[in-house]
Amino acid sequence: MMDPQQRIWGFETNFGGLAELAVVKANQLMPKPTHLTWEEAASPGLVNSTAYRQLISRNGAHMKLGDRVLIWGASGGLGSYATQMALAGGATPVCVVSSPEKADLCRAMGAELIIDRSAEGYRFWNEDGTAQDPSEWQRLGKRIRDLTGGHDVDIVFEHPGRETFGASVYVARKGGTIATCASTSGYLHEYDNRYLWMNLKRIVSSHFANYREAWEANELIDRGLIHPTLSRTYRLEDVGQAALDVHGSRTSARPPSTCTATSTRARSGSSRSRRRRASGSPTRRSGRPSRRRSTGSATPEQRRRPPLG
Ligand SMILES: NC(=O)c1ccc[n+]([C@@H]2O[C@H](COP(=O)([O-])OP(=O)(O)OC[C@H]3O[C@@H](n4cnc5c(N)ncnc54)[C@H](OP(=O)(O)O)[C@@H]3O)[C@@H](O)[C@H]2O)c1
Repeated sequence: MMDPQQRIWGFETNFGGLAELAVVKANQLMPKPTHLTWEEAASPGLVNSTAYRQLISRNGAHMKLGDRVLIWGASGGLGSYATQMALAGGATPVCVVSSPEKADLCRAMGAELIIDRSAEGYRFWNEDGTAQDPSEWQRLGKRIRDLTGGHDVDIVFEHPGRETFGASVYVARKGGTIATCASTSGYLHEYDNRYLWMNLKRIVSSHFANYREAWEANELIDRGLIHPTLSRTYRLEDVGQAALDVHGSRTSARPPSTCTATSTRARSGSSRSRRRRASGSPTRRSGRPSRRRSTGSATPEQRRRPPLG
């Protein structure tokens, strides 16, 4: 990750990653978890690896058993993996979402402590976005303590950025960690440094994952400890609509353009697609929710977790 030549393929190089066929290096490949469909297997790569480094790896927040973790956007792309990792790793996620439907998604993953930020109506910034209101940070902190029995969080899983960063620094416990990998609402963060230095908190930056971290994150999925949070699939020709839907936040978790895998396999007449056609079972269609899970050669460990999405 520290190598100045390191680039994210398709994002920082190559003019995008959407194609029916692509040439990649061998060390860009991961084993496909056998119990997943191609669409499910294609969806976690970026966000699962990023959440793993940011939350679990010692290059990130290095979460441990018993930690309390505040997760912004807990039903979203990064957040839904962070929530599952917290639960699987013996930590307690405090999930922040913006609707009852998203709260239900977190409950379906097994989370119990949930804050609906819309219902709470937090206003961390004033109308013109020039000053923050520390009493709103305190209100969030009090809500967290109400849910946790009086405790502050050990880790804040940050990515909204400017909008929430002041609050995130405030609510982390003394000695706690704020791990950040993005600034969705704005890059210029503002926080009260007294809460950071006087309380020995740390801000840790994180970006994607190295190969080892990505491999370990993929292995969690392969073993069924973490499950892809795929909300919809799209055909390759509908990728513009997919981008628009992400832009308009009309989906709850990141919709992958896994249509690439679907169409390639359908056309190559793979044994699975031949079996599907023979049995009359449906292949993925545009806009259909992906709730079915291929359990072909799933191990008991892989079958433990219910499908999400
Ligand atoms: N550095 C990296 O390697 C890396 C990798 C992947 C993603 N990212 C970045 O990380 C960010 C999140 O990615 P994602 O895939 O998780 O996106 P996502 O699926 O859209 O989820 C983000 C969630 O964050 C919450 N959110 C958005 N704006 C907010 C605000 N102003 N205040 C509070 N919560 C807010 C929303 O949840 P609620 O409305 O439910 O609260 C939203 O669903 C993006 O900026 C993305 O580009 C960085």
